[in-house]
Amino acid sequence: MMSPQGSPEPAPGVVRFYNFVPEGNAFLEDVLAGLALPQKSVPPKYFYDERGSRLFEAICELPEYYPTRTEMAIMRAHIAEMAQLAGPEAELIEFGSGAGIKTRILIEALRPPIYVPVDIDGAMLRAASDQLSRLFPWLNIIGICADYSRALALPEFVGAPIARKAVFFPGSTIGNFTPEEALEFLRRTRSLAGAGGALLVGVDLKKDKAVLDAAYDDSQGVTAQFNLNLLRRINRELGGDFQLARFAHRAFYDDAKGRIEMHLESLYAQFVRIAGRRFDFAPGETIHTEISCKYTAAEFIELARDARFESKKVWTDERQMFSVHGMIAV
Ligand code: TRP
Repeated sequence: MMSPQGSPEPAPGVVRFYNFVPEGNAFLEDVLAGLALPQKSVPPKYFYDERGSRLFEAICELPEYYPTRTEMAIMRAHIAEMAQLAGPEAELIEFGSGAGIKTRILIEALRPPIYVPVDIDGAMLRAASDQLSRLFPWLNIIGICADYSRALALPEFVGAPIARKAVFFPGSTIGNFTPEEALEFLRRTRSLAGAGGALLVGVDLKKDKAVLDAAYDDSQGVTAQFNLNLLRRINRELGGDFQLARFAHRAFYDDAKGRIEMHLESLYAQFVRIAGRRFDFAPGETIHTEISCKYTAAEFIELARDARFESKKVWTDERQMFSVHGMIAV
């Protein structure tokens, strides 16, 4: 095909999807198991049903929630250097791709032959991939619906000129793992990327407690809605009978642990039924729903080194709110 200017247009890319989410109702099993623990808890990946993904996008635009816009600004300011670190002809793999706004900036600068978004929310994955393929018609997109908190084997691609793999993990999502889980994740990512592979990872920095508390407990109550949506989802999908007004969103920064903890607190003595099982709550008892660990640049470099990633560059904003690490697998 020729463009009006007469230069040849690149051939259109292929868009494909794989579903690696296992059959069966892991949601039910995980909820029943989590609520039977002494400290009740539910894994955070279940936040992201359709409504949850939408609420999370709203969180990203809140005045108090600085990470998204700060990371975006850091990327805009340093995108050429980031693309250089990832290198030409890189297969770009993104974990937790979500709505994919930051991805656009990176794809534009890097122009990778293949983009592999991995996300637990299949509907979001399709919608975002659709948009990207309209913006970049030449791009091959291989969407993977999967839970990347576990081991994951990605399909190999033949025919495309791939020089190396570049993994993009923005949003400080790595902070939603414990440091031990983050290390495991980095080790798996290291073996996925192979020697010479690149890693661009967004990491929220340690800072003043008041700033962090506000970021996870905003004045409009959007984060509260996001947290409570988990109970709504359990009611809808698992036949639960949570009364949402009887639970409250709690989020606070624990300075000693260097992390945000998010809980749903029972306001009364009450019980809830899910799939015929009964769960009792004392007043003040909580369901633990999320952590968000914060790292100094030095702490994160140290952690990644244990997974055989060598720090090449740390980009931050002027106020030292957020960091993006550029690393190479050794
Ligand atoms: N990774 C982000 C963070 O820890 C996103 C996130 C997960 C989040 N759960 C959240 C943000 C709950 C706000 C509230 O900040």
